[in-house]
Amino acid sequence: MACSGQSRQEAVRSVSSMMNGFARTGCAALLATMLAACAGVDGRPASVSIPDHTSPGAQAFSARCSSCHATPHPARHDWHGWLYLVSLMERRMAERGMAAMSADEKALILAYLKEHAR
Ligand code: HEC
Repeated sequence: MACSGQSRQEAVRSVSSMMNGFARTGCAALLATMLAACAGVDGRPASVSIPDHTSPGAQAFSARCSSCHATPHPARHDWHGWLYLVSLMERRMAERGMAAMSADEKALILAYLKEHAR
């Protein structure tokens, strides 16, 4: 009796330590996934695949809009949201001493965003 009780306890203990291990690695994996997902704002360049990604507009967009955070997906905002955000981002570029977008670049990016906006 005592014996089987003990071994059950041991089994429970070892399963629960396995679960702890699992939870730990699971959490790390989840965290990594979340960080990757959040890369929309804080991360590395484009793990996000953007529509029509070989077009000049998409290329200008990912060239200019992925140095401080990953390239946001164009369907993330509607057109009015993008108009506001692009001018906000121009301010962020200026604040960090980055070269401003040329008129051509900005026109390409805006046209691209307009086409693929939410
Ligand atoms: C100089 C660095 C920098 C560059 C370059 C930059 N951004 Fe940002 N971006 C930021 C910062 C900082 C934030 C966080 C919000 C804030 O402070 O305005 C942000 C936030 C965003 C967001 C977050 C809103 C959301 O959907 O969660 C979007 C979208 C965005 N930027 C789009 C762009 C686009 C489009 C471009 C290119 C035209 C661009 N960014 C280029 C710095 C930058």
